[in-house]
Amino acid sequence: MSSVLSRICGHGVVPVVTLDDAAHAPTLGRALLTGGLPVAEVTFRTHAAEAAVAALSQEPELLVGAGTIITADQVDRAAAAGARFIVSPGLSRSVVARAAAHDLPVIPGAVTATEVQAALELGLTALKFFPAASSGGPAVISALAAPFPQVRFMPTGGVSPQNLSDYLTIPCVMAAGGSWMVPQHLVAAQDEAALSEQARRSAALVAQ
Ligand code: 3PG
Repeated sequence: MSSVLSRICGHGVVPVVTLDDAAHAPTLGRALLTGGLPVAEVTFRTHAAEAAVAALSQEPELLVGAGTIITADQVDRAAAAGARFIVSPGLSRSVVARAAAHDLPVIPGAVTATEVQAALELGLTALKFFPAASSGGPAVISALAAPFPQVRFMPTGGVSPQNLSDYLTIPCVMAAGGSWMVPQHLVAAQDEAALSEQARRSAALVAQ
């Protein structure tokens, strides 16, 4: 496992961040650092995504990845912005190949045995289980672990403080992702103290 993936495992959770304005990134970056959760997956769903990755990457202690990456071109742009890992909602050969060309770890989505096998054929064993809740949640992850003991899953989509432990107690779950760790209204309000507190609470849930 790459050092980046090891760091993600160590954090146990990955805040999924969608920024409408890259000017909000420095405040968020500081809040994640002071809250003790120095990792973020910035979704490529807004025009601000690349600039947000670049701004967050200015913090050397912050592990910044790019999420919702569905094309090879987006991999190029994420790499140029400084992303340290790539997350994809599904499994795309072109995304995986381009991430490898940039020497970036990639975590593609897979929720069925067929999708897991396709990822294994590409040499990948760290997979995003997305959308986690509506794809069967912890029960399906546990069922997939039996035939695929080499796979580590990052469930995302419908993970919350209420069900986080249901996922993290499964041995093959390396970390859980979620947008609840970075509430949009706090980002928009640039409320660094509240964002930091939310990060601290999220990290504390993992420690429990
Ligand atoms: C993702 O992009 O990974 C999900 O949209 C995050 O899902 P959540 O909002 O349910 O945490």
